Amino acid sequence: MSGKIMTLSRHIIEEERRYPEATGEFTDLMNDIAFAAKLISYHTNKAGLLNILGETGEINVQGEKVKKLDIFAHETMVKALDHGGNLCVMASEEVEEIISIPKEYPLGKYVCLFDPLDGSSNIDANVSVGTIFSIYRRITPDGKPGTLDDCLQVGRKQVCAGYVVYGSSTMLVYTTGFGVHGFTLDPSYGEFVLSHPNLKTPEKAKIYSVNESNFDYWDQKIKNYVHYVKQIDKSTGRPLNSRYIGSLVSDFHRNLLYGGIYLYPPSSLAKNGKLRLIYEANPMAFIVEQAGGRASNGVKDILDMKPQELHQRVPLYIGTKYDVNMIEEFIKKQ
Ligand code: F6P
Repeated sequence: MSGKIMTLSRHIIEEERRYPEATGEFTDLMNDIAFAAKLISYHTNKAGLLNILGETGEINVQGEKVKKLDIFAHETMVKALDHGGNLCVMASEEVEEIISIPKEYPLGKYVCLFDPLDGSSNIDANVSVGTIFSIYRRITPDGKPGTLDDCLQVGRKQVCAGYVVYGSSTMLVYTTGFGVHGFTLDPSYGEFVLSHPNLKTPEKAKIYSVNESNFDYWDQKIKNYVHYVKQIDKSTGRPLNSRYIGSLVSDFHRNLLYGGIYLYPPSSLAKNGKLRLIYEANPMAFIVEQAGGRASNGVKDILDMKPQELHQRVPLYIGTKYDVNMIEEFIKKQ
């Protein structure tokens, strides 16, 4: 074996050393998230064996069928994070309201927003799914329970964002604003080990990812763009290759590595598209910017949008800078 092994815990401690005033709260919080990710990873892998595949029959706040693993992942995140004394409030894509810290536990200075199991409609087909998380500093006074205002901060205020992809291996990717770093879970000793330091996304996309079955519901400008990426033009690297899993974490992760643009535009069926601003778009936007890419709602940076409500949806164009700029040009055209 050669070289030094950098575990996630060691990496987080080194990140926190950038701040002489740091108390270790952030390190504790990240360790709790990593622990929850290991539990979710274990259960996602064992889903068939443990007979927890399939739907519960309930409908979540987004009007989608809830899978048992969604509930497991949600409860795991809440239980892993509620008693560490690092958070003042949480919010999960699985529940309608903010999640308060139980009275018996101490309150902290951070806020954690998460989508516990994104892409879960794919689970029964063994397709990769993921957990997405976002961390903010509280804006309400210390010592009191956090409020909705703490959860509705503009994306630029994120102090950390990350995702875990439960795929052929489990990977945790995160940023605190100093680059994007990817860690692969070694199942033999249960540690996330640095495998992708300082990830940079390519300048230009090779891939476009979109649910093209919505084509007829899109505005003409979006149709024009999708038509454009399919035209043959060697000088601009077209046609782009089409890849769409239907699991944001997996589509995003592949595009981050290979260079791609993911779009979920508005349509006549869903005027703001499908994706959630605070649970999906903001964390991925922070990560993509740190990797040299961009995320836009078609008009402005996702990270500059002020969320109005917890489950707000937003059109999302995310990936390589060149291609996000290009789609904005198409949207601007009369
Ligand atoms: O928001 C949930 C989600 O499953 C994302 O992970 C994914 O990118 C998207 O929805 C897929 O939506 P559709 O099935 O409409 O393409």
